[in-house]
Amino acid sequence: MKKVLIIGATSAIAEHCGRIWATRGDELYLVARNEVHLQTIAADYEVRGASSVAINCVNLNELDRHVDLLESAENAMNGVDVVLIAYGTLSNQKECELSVEETLAEIQTNALSTISLLTLIANRFEAKKSGTICVMSSVAGDRGRASNYVYGSAKAMVTAFTSGLRQRLHKSNVTVVTIKPGFVDTPMTSEFKKGFLWVKPYVVAASIVQAINKNRAEIYVPSFWWLIMLCVKLTPSIVFKKMRM
Ligand SMILES: NC(=O)c1ccc[n+]([C@@H]2O[C@H](COP(=O)([O-])OP(=O)(O)OC[C@H]3O[C@@H](n4cnc5c(N)ncnc54)[C@H](OP(=O)(O)O)[C@@H]3O)[C@@H](O)[C@H]2O)c1
Repeated sequence: MKKVLIIGATSAIAEHCGRIWATRGDELYLVARNEVHLQTIAADYEVRGASSVAINCVNLNELDRHVDLLESAENAMNGVDVVLIAYGTLSNQKECELSVEETLAEIQTNALSTISLLTLIANRFEAKKSGTICVMSSVAGDRGRASNYVYGSAKAMVTAFTSGLRQRLHKSNVTVVTIKPGFVDTPMTSEFKKGFLWVKPYVVAASIVQAINKNRAEIYVPSFWWLIMLCVKLTPSIVFKKMRM
């Protein structure tokens, strides 16, 4: 039985991870900003078999609440074994191009607030020499593209940060898992036309839980995105800058 803190627990992908952990009988502490949604998810996890479920309503852009939310989770479960950070917003690229404020707000939500949490969690896990930190990045962070480089650059920051953190914490027996999904059919992508590359959130959730169980470093979900992104990364700039993607 694990003590799992889910930050961004109302995300569709995180909700499916929580279902797996609840069925396993884990203790769960859920953080998100929508209280009604959180309560509904918590009630569902109790029915599924979670040992305990507690909720905490926080807008994660309020950085001054991060220390308190981590302490509350530790107190509620008498420790934390696994943290999943899963919140985010899909930036409106066109609006960001017209507004510095909008661009920085997106970087704040998708990178800086996550980095604040990672810094605090890392120090706590390093001190107790155990724990697993799992963070949702994205294939979008592998190479900036005209259609979504604000979101992509925030995710690139998260990927680079977790890479460094993984090296730093290795000697302290702390695992850092970076998840890079491709296209996932969730509320975040509700306005997109779906095609053959798309997967459902429960598919991604199963891969996340498995990656945590196996202490994996970085995974693409589904795994074929590794090959797609290798091709994207290897495309010479002289060609890449003329492509539309
Ligand atoms: N869907 C994809 O294709 C895809 C691909 C690659 C990576 N990802 C990443 O996977 C993660 C989960 O996304 P998802 O697809 O499951 O999307 P989702 O269902 O739309 O969930 C996004 C969640 O983030 C929460 N959130 C946003 N800003 C927040 C804030 N300031 N404070 C607290 N919560 C906040 C939202 O809360 P509210 O409901 O209250 O707004 C929502 O619960 C994200 O990091 C996303 O970038 C998704």
